[in-house]
Amino acid sequence: MKHLLAAADLSPAEIASILDLAEEMHAVQSRQVKKLPTLRGRTVVNLFFEDSTRTRGSFELAEKWMSADAVNMSGKGSSVSKGESLRDTVLTLDAMGVDAFVIRHSGSGAVHQAAGWVRPNVSVVNAGDGAHEHPTQALLDAFAMRRHFRRHSTESWEDKTIAIVGDLTHSRVVRSNVSLLQTLGAQVILVAPPTLMPAGVSTWGVEIAPDFDAVLPRADVVMMLRVQRERMAGGFFPSAREYTVGYGLTRDRLERLKPGAAICHPGPMNRGVEISSDAADSVNSLVLDQVSAGVAVRMSVLYHLLGGEGQA
Ligand code: NCD
Repeated sequence: MKHLLAAADLSPAEIASILDLAEEMHAVQSRQVKKLPTLRGRTVVNLFFEDSTRTRGSFELAEKWMSADAVNMSGKGSSVSKGESLRDTVLTLDAMGVDAFVIRHSGSGAVHQAAGWVRPNVSVVNAGDGAHEHPTQALLDAFAMRRHFRRHSTESWEDKTIAIVGDLTHSRVVRSNVSLLQTLGAQVILVAPPTLMPAGVSTWGVEIAPDFDAVLPRADVVMMLRVQRERMAGGFFPSAREYTVGYGLTRDRLERLKPGAAICHPGPMNRGVEISSDAADSVNSLVLDQVSAGVAVRMSVLYHLLGGEGQA
Protein backbone atom coordinates (compact mmCIF):
# COMPACT_ATOMS: atom_id res chain seq x y z
CA MET A 1 0.00 0.00 0.00
CA LYS A 2 1.37 3.42 -0.95
CA HIS A 3 -1.60 5.72 -0.28
CA LEU A 4 -4.99 5.24 1.38
CA LEU A 5 -7.37 7.42 -0.61
CA ALA A 6 -10.59 5.41 -0.97
CA ALA A 7 -12.13 2.37 0.69
CA ALA A 8 -12.73 0.80 -2.73
CA ASP A 9 -8.94 0.58 -3.25
CA LEU A 10 -8.67 -2.02 -0.47
CA SER A 11 -8.80 -5.74 -1.25
CA PRO A 12 -10.39 -8.22 1.19
CA ALA A 13 -6.86 -9.35 2.18
CA GLU A 14 -5.71 -5.78 2.85
CA ILE A 15 -8.81 -5.06 4.97
CA ALA A 16 -8.24 -8.24 6.98
CA SER A 17 -4.58 -7.39 7.46
CA ILE A 18 -5.39 -3.84 8.66
CA LEU A 19 -8.14 -5.01 11.05
CA ASP A 20 -6.05 -7.88 12.44
CA LEU A 21 -3.03 -5.67 13.15
CA ALA A 22 -5.40 -3.09 14.67
CA GLU A 23 -6.43 -5.77 17.20
CA GLU A 24 -2.79 -5.93 18.32
CA MET A 25 -2.45 -2.16 18.32
CA HIS A 26 -5.62 -1.86 20.41
CA ALA A 27 -3.81 -3.50 23.32
CA VAL A 28 -1.34 -0.57 23.42
CA GLN A 29 -4.20 1.76 24.43
CA SER A 30 -4.69 0.00 27.75
CA ARG A 31 -0.98 -0.07 28.61
CA GLN A 32 0.49 2.36 31.07
CA VAL A 33 3.37 3.14 28.69
CA LYS A 34 1.87 3.81 25.27
CA LYS A 35 4.92 3.78 23.04
CA LEU A 36 6.10 1.49 20.26
CA PRO A 37 9.31 2.16 18.32
CA THR A 38 7.65 1.16 15.02
CA LEU A 39 7.75 4.50 13.17
CA ARG A 40 10.78 6.05 14.84
CA GLY A 41 12.45 8.48 12.48
CA ARG A 42 9.40 8.85 10.22
CA THR A 43 7.62 12.19 9.93
CA VAL A 44 3.88 12.63 9.33
CA VAL A 45 2.12 15.93 8.61
CA ASN A 46 -1.53 16.18 9.66
CA LEU A 47 -3.03 18.76 7.36
CA PHE A 48 -6.60 19.55 8.47
CA PHE A 49 -8.53 22.16 6.53
CA GLU A 50 -11.81 21.19 8.24
CA ASP A 51 -12.62 20.93 11.93
CA SER A 52 -12.16 17.58 13.59
CA THR A 53 -11.99 16.10 17.09
CA ARG A 54 -11.94 12.32 16.64
CA THR A 55 -10.08 11.91 13.37
CA ARG A 56 -7.41 14.48 14.07
CA GLY A 57 -6.91 13.46 17.70
CA SER A 58 -6.66 9.77 16.88
CA PHE A 59 -4.25 10.20 13.97
CA GLU A 60 -2.02 12.31 16.18
CA LEU A 61 -2.14 9.78 19.03
CA ALA A 62 -1.49 6.92 16.58
CA GLU A 63 1.59 8.69 15.24
CA LYS A 64 2.91 9.57 18.70
CA TRP A 65 2.32 6.11 20.14
CA MET A 66 4.30 4.64 17.25
CA SER A 67 7.15 7.16 17.80
CA ALA A 68 6.70 9.04 14.51
CA ASP A 69 7.33 12.79 14.52
CA ALA A 70 3.96 14.48 14.00
CA VAL A 71 3.46 17.99 12.65
CA ASN A 72 -0.03 19.52 12.80
CA MET A 73 -1.22 22.15 10.36
CA SER A 74 -4.63 23.65 9.78
CA GLY A 75 -5.99 26.26 7.40
CA LYS A 76 -6.12 28.82 10.18
CA GLY A 77 -2.62 29.53 11.43
CA SER A 78 -0.88 28.37 8.23
CA SER A 79 -0.12 30.38 5.09
CA VAL A 80 -3.42 29.08 3.65
CA SER A 81 -5.03 32.01 5.47
CA LYS A 82 -2.73 34.28 3.43
CA GLY A 83 -4.12 32.78 0.25
CA GLU A 84 -1.60 30.00 -0.41
CA SER A 85 -3.12 27.20 -2.49
CA LEU A 86 -3.45 23.57 -1.40
CA ARG A 87 -0.89 22.61 -4.04
CA ASP A 88 1.72 25.10 -2.82
CA THR A 89 1.05 24.10 0.78
CA VAL A 90 1.58 20.41 0.00
CA LEU A 91 4.66 21.08 -2.16
CA THR A 92 6.16 23.27 0.58
CA LEU A 93 5.75 20.67 3.33
CA ASP A 94 6.81 17.90 0.94
CA ALA A 95 10.04 19.80 0.22
CA MET A 96 10.89 19.66 3.94
CA GLY A 97 11.32 15.91 3.53
CA VAL A 98 8.28 14.44 5.31
CA ASP A 99 7.25 10.80 4.86
CA ALA A 100 3.45 11.03 4.88
CA PHE A 101 0.51 13.40 4.79
CA VAL A 102 -2.82 12.88 6.51
CA ILE A 103 -5.20 15.31 4.83
CA ARG A 104 -8.76 16.48 5.48
CA HIS A 105 -10.19 18.98 3.02
CA SER A 106 -13.64 20.25 2.11
CA GLY A 107 -13.09 19.65 -1.61
CA SER A 108 -14.15 16.22 -2.92
CA GLY A 109 -11.11 14.87 -4.78
CA ALA A 110 -8.62 17.29 -3.16
CA VAL A 111 -6.75 14.52 -1.35
CA HIS A 112 -6.43 12.45 -4.55
CA GLN A 113 -4.92 15.51 -6.21
CA ALA A 114 -2.46 15.94 -3.35
CA ALA A 115 -1.31 12.35 -3.85
CA GLY A 116 -0.29 13.35 -7.36
CA TRP A 117 1.83 16.27 -6.11
CA VAL A 118 4.01 14.60 -3.46
CA ARG A 119 7.41 12.98 -4.11
CA PRO A 120 7.21 9.33 -5.20
CA ASN A 121 8.12 7.82 -1.83
CA VAL A 122 5.63 9.91 0.18
CA SER A 123 2.29 8.43 1.33
CA VAL A 124 -1.02 10.26 1.51
CA VAL A 125 -3.95 9.25 3.74
CA ASN A 126 -7.41 10.60 3.10
CA ALA A 127 -8.87 11.80 6.44
CA GLY A 128 -12.05 12.99 4.71
CA ASP A 129 -12.48 14.92 1.46
CA GLY A 130 -15.74 16.83 1.04
CA ALA A 131 -18.68 14.50 0.55
CA HIS A 132 -16.45 11.92 -1.11
CA GLU A 133 -14.44 9.43 1.01
CA HIS A 134 -13.30 8.79 4.58
CA PRO A 135 -11.68 5.35 4.37
CA THR A 136 -10.19 5.16 7.88
CA GLN A 137 -13.67 5.84 9.30
CA ALA A 138 -15.09 2.86 7.39
CA LEU A 139 -12.18 0.71 8.63
CA LEU A 140 -12.70 1.68 12.26
CA ASP A 141 -16.46 1.11 11.89
CA ALA A 142 -15.72 -2.37 10.54
CA PHE A 143 -13.35 -3.00 13.45
CA ALA A 144 -15.98 -2.00 16.04
CA MET A 145 -18.73 -3.98 14.26
CA ARG A 146 -16.54 -7.07 13.92
CA ARG A 147 -15.82 -7.01 17.67
CA HIS A 148 -19.56 -6.66 18.37
CA PHE A 149 -20.38 -9.60 16.08
CA ARG A 150 -17.71 -11.74 17.72
CA ARG A 151 -19.32 -11.05 21.13
CA HIS A 152 -22.92 -11.61 20.05
CA SER A 153 -23.18 -14.04 17.15
CA THR A 154 -20.98 -15.18 14.29
CA GLU A 155 -18.10 -13.24 12.81
CA SER A 156 -19.25 -13.68 9.21
CA TRP A 157 -20.24 -10.54 7.30
CA GLU A 158 -22.35 -12.39 4.72
CA ASP A 159 -25.28 -12.90 7.09
CA LYS A 160 -25.23 -9.32 8.43
CA THR A 161 -27.41 -6.40 7.39
CA ILE A 162 -26.15 -2.88 8.03
CA ALA A 163 -28.63 -0.01 7.75
CA ILE A 164 -27.00 3.38 7.14
CA VAL A 165 -29.45 6.13 8.00
CA GLY A 166 -29.45 9.89 7.67
CA ASP A 167 -27.98 12.69 5.63
CA LEU A 168 -26.43 10.49 2.97
CA THR A 169 -26.11 13.19 0.30
CA HIS A 170 -23.50 15.13 2.26
CA SER A 171 -21.76 12.15 3.82
CA ARG A 172 -18.32 10.80 2.93
CA VAL A 173 -18.79 8.21 5.68
CA VAL A 174 -21.60 6.49 3.77
CA ARG A 175 -19.59 6.33 0.54
CA SER A 176 -16.58 4.72 2.23
CA ASN A 177 -18.76 2.38 4.28
CA VAL A 178 -20.76 1.15 1.30
CA SER A 179 -17.53 0.25 -0.55
CA LEU A 180 -15.91 -1.43 2.41
CA LEU A 181 -19.02 -3.34 3.51
CA GLN A 182 -19.59 -4.55 -0.05
CA THR A 183 -16.00 -5.82 -0.20
CA LEU A 184 -16.58 -7.61 3.12
CA GLY A 185 -19.80 -9.16 1.78
CA ALA A 186 -22.40 -7.56 4.10
CA GLN A 187 -25.89 -6.47 3.01
CA VAL A 188 -26.30 -2.70 3.08
CA ILE A 189 -29.61 -0.81 3.30
CA LEU A 190 -29.59 2.95 2.83
CA VAL A 191 -32.32 4.91 4.60
CA ALA A 192 -32.88 8.64 4.05
CA PRO A 193 -35.55 11.12 3.08
CA PRO A 194 -35.63 11.46 -0.73
CA THR A 195 -33.97 14.91 -0.52
CA LEU A 196 -30.97 13.45 1.33
CA MET A 197 -30.55 10.33 -0.83
CA PRO A 198 -27.45 10.82 -3.07
CA ALA A 199 -27.94 11.24 -6.82
CA GLY A 200 -27.07 8.04 -8.67
CA VAL A 201 -27.53 5.86 -5.59
CA SER A 202 -29.43 3.26 -7.64
CA THR A 203 -26.09 2.32 -9.26
CA TRP A 204 -24.39 1.60 -5.91
CA GLY A 205 -25.74 -1.95 -5.74
CA VAL A 206 -27.41 -1.58 -2.32
CA GLU A 207 -31.00 -1.68 -1.11
CA ILE A 208 -32.70 1.69 -0.78
CA ALA A 209 -35.46 2.14 1.78
CA PRO A 210 -37.44 5.29 2.40
CA ASP A 211 -39.21 3.80 5.46
CA PHE A 212 -36.93 3.52 8.50
CA ASP A 213 -39.57 1.71 10.58
CA ALA A 214 -39.73 -1.18 8.12
CA VAL A 215 -35.95 -1.62 8.33
CA LEU A 216 -35.66 -1.65 12.16
CA PRO A 217 -36.36 -5.39 12.74
CA ARG A 218 -34.03 -6.44 9.89
CA ALA A 219 -30.81 -4.61 10.79
CA ASP A 220 -27.91 -6.14 12.71
CA VAL A 221 -26.37 -2.66 12.86
CA VAL A 222 -27.96 0.76 12.48
CA MET A 223 -25.40 3.38 11.58
CA MET A 224 -26.84 6.82 12.21
CA LEU A 225 -25.22 9.70 10.31
CA ARG A 226 -25.20 13.34 11.29
CA VAL A 227 -27.41 15.94 9.67
CA GLN A 228 -24.58 18.03 8.16
CA ARG A 229 -26.00 21.53 8.24
CA GLU A 230 -22.66 23.10 7.35
CA ARG A 231 -22.81 21.41 3.92
CA MET A 232 -26.43 22.31 3.22
CA ALA A 233 -27.42 25.32 1.19
CA GLY A 234 -31.18 25.66 1.55
CA GLY A 235 -33.78 23.43 3.18
CA PHE A 236 -33.50 19.66 2.77
CA PHE A 237 -36.27 18.92 5.27
CA PRO A 238 -39.00 21.07 6.84
CA SER A 239 -37.74 21.11 10.45
CA ALA A 240 -35.46 19.20 12.81
CA ARG A 241 -38.57 17.88 14.56
CA GLU A 242 -39.99 16.41 11.35
CA TYR A 243 -36.61 14.89 10.50
CA THR A 244 -36.52 13.17 13.91
CA VAL A 245 -40.08 11.85 13.52
CA GLY A 246 -39.22 10.24 10.17
CA TYR A 247 -35.55 9.30 10.50
CA GLY A 248 -34.30 9.73 14.07
CA LEU A 249 -33.30 6.76 16.21
CA THR A 250 -35.78 7.64 18.93
CA ARG A 251 -36.43 5.70 22.14
CA ASP A 252 -39.48 4.14 20.50
CA ARG A 253 -37.48 2.93 17.49
CA LEU A 254 -34.71 1.66 19.78
CA GLU A 255 -37.24 -0.75 21.29
CA ARG A 256 -38.15 -2.10 17.85
CA LEU A 257 -34.58 -3.03 16.86
CA LYS A 258 -33.56 -6.67 16.54
CA PRO A 259 -32.30 -7.93 19.95
CA GLY A 260 -28.55 -7.30 20.17
CA ALA A 261 -28.47 -4.96 17.18
CA ALA A 262 -25.56 -2.53 17.39
CA ILE A 263 -25.89 1.24 17.12
CA CYS A 264 -23.10 3.17 15.42
CA HIS A 265 -22.52 6.88 14.87
CA PRO A 266 -19.22 8.32 13.59
CA GLY A 267 -19.74 11.51 15.64
CA PRO A 268 -20.15 14.32 16.22
CA MET A 269 -23.74 13.51 17.24
CA ASN A 270 -26.70 15.86 17.14
CA ARG A 271 -28.41 14.35 20.17
CA GLY A 272 -32.17 14.70 19.88
CA VAL A 273 -32.04 15.09 16.07
CA GLU A 274 -30.73 11.94 14.32
CA ILE A 275 -30.12 10.01 17.54
CA SER A 276 -31.75 10.11 20.99
CA SER A 277 -29.64 9.96 24.13
CA ASP A 278 -31.37 6.66 24.95
CA ALA A 279 -29.90 5.18 21.76
CA ALA A 280 -26.50 6.87 21.96
CA ASP A 281 -25.95 5.70 25.53
CA SER A 282 -27.62 2.27 25.26
CA VAL A 283 -25.79 -0.99 26.03
CA ASN A 284 -25.57 -1.83 22.34
CA SER A 285 -24.20 1.58 21.34
CA LEU A 286 -20.73 1.30 19.78
CA VAL A 287 -20.17 5.06 19.64
CA LEU A 288 -17.23 5.10 22.07
CA ASP A 289 -15.96 1.73 20.79
CA GLN A 290 -15.72 3.40 17.38
CA VAL A 291 -13.66 6.22 18.87
CA SER A 292 -11.34 3.80 20.62
CA ALA A 293 -11.07 1.69 17.44
CA GLY A 294 -10.05 4.85 15.60
CA VAL A 295 -6.65 5.04 17.26
CA ALA A 296 -5.88 1.33 16.76
CA VAL A 297 -7.01 1.31 13.13
CA ARG A 298 -5.01 4.44 12.30
CA MET A 299 -1.93 2.94 13.94
CA SER A 300 -2.40 -0.11 11.75
CA VAL A 301 -2.95 1.96 8.59
CA LEU A 302 0.19 4.03 9.23
CA TYR A 303 2.14 0.84 9.85
CA HIS A 304 0.92 -0.62 6.55
CA LEU A 305 1.96 2.54 4.71
CA LEU A 306 5.20 3.44 6.45
CA GLY A 307 6.42 0.62 8.59
CA GLY A 308 6.32 -2.38 6.32
CA GLU A 309 9.20 -4.47 5.09
CA GLY A 310 11.62 -2.65 2.85
CA GLN A 311 10.21 0.72 3.85
CA ALA A 312 12.38 1.55 6.85
C1 NCD B 1 -17.46 12.44 10.08
C2 NCD B 1 -16.77 13.31 9.07
O1 NCD B 1 -16.06 14.26 9.41
O2 NCD B 1 -16.94 12.99 7.92
N1 NCD B 1 -16.96 12.50 11.38
C3 NCD B 1 -15.82 11.86 11.73
O3 NCD B 1 -14.84 11.82 11.00
N2 NCD B 1 -15.83 11.23 12.91
C4 NCD B 1 -18.93 12.59 10.04
C5 NCD B 1 -19.54 13.92 10.36
O4 NCD B 1 -18.87 14.96 10.40
O5 NCD B 1 -20.75 13.93 10.57
